[in-house]
Amino acid sequence: MSVAEQSIAGAEARGHGFLASSVGRKVVMAVTGIVLFGFVTVHMIGNTQAYMGAEHFNAYAHFLKTMLHGGGIWIFRSILLTAAGLHVWAAVTLTLDNRAARPVGYRAQQNVGSTFASRTMRWSGTILAVFIVYHLLHFTTGTVHPNFDPANPYANFVNGFKVPAAAGFYIVAQLCLGLHMWHGVWSCTQSLGLSHPRYDSLRRGFATGLTLLVVGVNITYPIAVLAGIIH
Ligand code: HEM
Repeated sequence: MSVAEQSIAGAEARGHGFLASSVGRKVVMAVTGIVLFGFVTVHMIGNTQAYMGAEHFNAYAHFLKTMLHGGGIWIFRSILLTAAGLHVWAAVTLTLDNRAARPVGYRAQQNVGSTFASRTMRWSGTILAVFIVYHLLHFTTGTVHPNFDPANPYANFVNGFKVPAAAGFYIVAQLCLGLHMWHGVWSCTQSLGLSHPRYDSLRRGFATGLTLLVVGVNITYPIAVLAGIIH
């Protein structure tokens, strides 16, 4: 079966409800995107504890693992996993449906009105998915960490970023996060019906400001370790 036939079959299998419609799945992408960007923003703020030293950072990590008698982190993990799963499902099925609707493709790609970030959403999203798996194996399970100590998240943070290749991958992944977030924040407000010429510059400003803040601060972490500022 060709890609087009597979996706037509998939679209038929999805039926005619809200989630089968492309608008419904765009709303799913927007709502789950907000949950994920919200997490990334809070996570970036939480990690600033690293600038306050080992005691603060380890106390913060300990709080995350023990809140609500250890159940809190599992509530967050289930929400994040569900949001990420639905986000990828909506992205993949929308892409397949678009291909099925236009199996031959445009002879010359028209980029009018699009940005580099919007055209590369599938690439930045895929690199982010790879990064998230690596990141969990690096700092949560320690599987790919050079000397992981479950009792000392601060030491894991510092020793993890002392490896230049790891620090470099984090920086590249944060640049992809920036592209994904900049277009994603802009576009989710559109999917939720908040676009209006009067508010467009506000939406653009919000997307740019939040992205620069999250990516800018996140990139400082590996650089601060390599520069010996966090040690
Ligand atoms: C340079 C930027 C980042 C740093 C320094 C960082 C640092 C960390 C650290 C140290 C942990 C482990 C905490 C612990 O075990 O106590 C962690 C967990 C995690 N991080 Fe990040 N992170 C960064 C960016 C990101 C990004 C961009 C995402 C998502 C796109 C992300 C998603 C997660 C997730 C899902 C967890 C696992 C939470 C859990 O235990 O379930 N991180 N991060």
